[in-house]
Amino acid sequence: MEYLDFAIELARAGGDVLKQYMAGEKQVELKGRANLVTVADKESEALIIRRIRERYPDHAILAEESGASGAGRSKWIIDPLDGTTNFAHQYPFFCVSIGFEQAGEVVSGAVYDPWRDEMFSGARGLGSFLNGERLQVSGVAKLGDGLLTTGFPYRVREKIALAMSQFEAFIIESQAVRRGGSAALDMCYTALGRCDGFWELDLSPWDTAAGLVILEEAGGRVTDFKGDPYSVYMKEIVASNGRIHEEMVAVLSG
Ligand code: IPD
Ligand code: CA
Ligand code: CA
Repeated sequence: MEYLDFAIELARAGGDVLKQYMAGEKQVELKGRANLVTVADKESEALIIRRIRERYPDHAILAEESGASGAGRSKWIIDPLDGTTNFAHQYPFFCVSIGFEQAGEVVSGAVYDPWRDEMFSGARGLGSFLNGERLQVSGVAKLGDGLLTTGFPYRVREKIALAMSQFEAFIIESQAVRRGGSAALDMCYTALGRCDGFWELDLSPWDTAAGLVILEEAGGRVTDFKGDPYSVYMKEIVASNGRIHEEMVAVLSG
């Protein structure tokens, strides 16, 4: 509970930084052709890291904007703003994601959407929650009845053929596909049953760490594209309510 509570505190603190910049000047810079970073990403991350350093100086940190620091079995995995492109355009779908890993396994996490004031949280064996209410994945049993989400990596141009063929196949096989722009929220929405499955082909640990524990604790399933066990250090992910998982894996390997 100690680390879960702290993850929630950190996600809220980062979210408060995003709120301050939500309506105003965001000082957008380019990290790549279409890969943005704003003053809010940087300030949110700096605040989160400062809080961790004060409380747990011996813990390791892996953060999107500043990279890895420290060593040891306890690691905080931080996305200070997941959905930066949305944030820069004031499209209201972004969050802060904080995962906590012990001995190689993500054991707790929190994802905070400051726009809707929605705090998703979860810890191994304790369940997952939205603003304190227990989460449960949807009961949708067939891919054809499922609402799916996905995202495209910044380097999509290098993988455009694969990304489009997967997208096309899921549009045909599912009820509908949405592309929201925040992988962490896509995973939390699957945990909550707002959608039934999610896949993406080139993600990073900070995109999925918190969402992984939140979704699995809500009864969901997460694997790679072959249906093999998932680790946050893999790029490919399929995440679902469990019931439509095999059908999703079949589409990806088909
Ligand atoms: C991105 C979002 C998006 C996904 C990209 C990620 P960022 O994270 O999660 O939904 O499609 O692959 O890089 O850069 O906004 O933190
Ligand atoms: Ca991200
Ligand atoms: Ca980010």
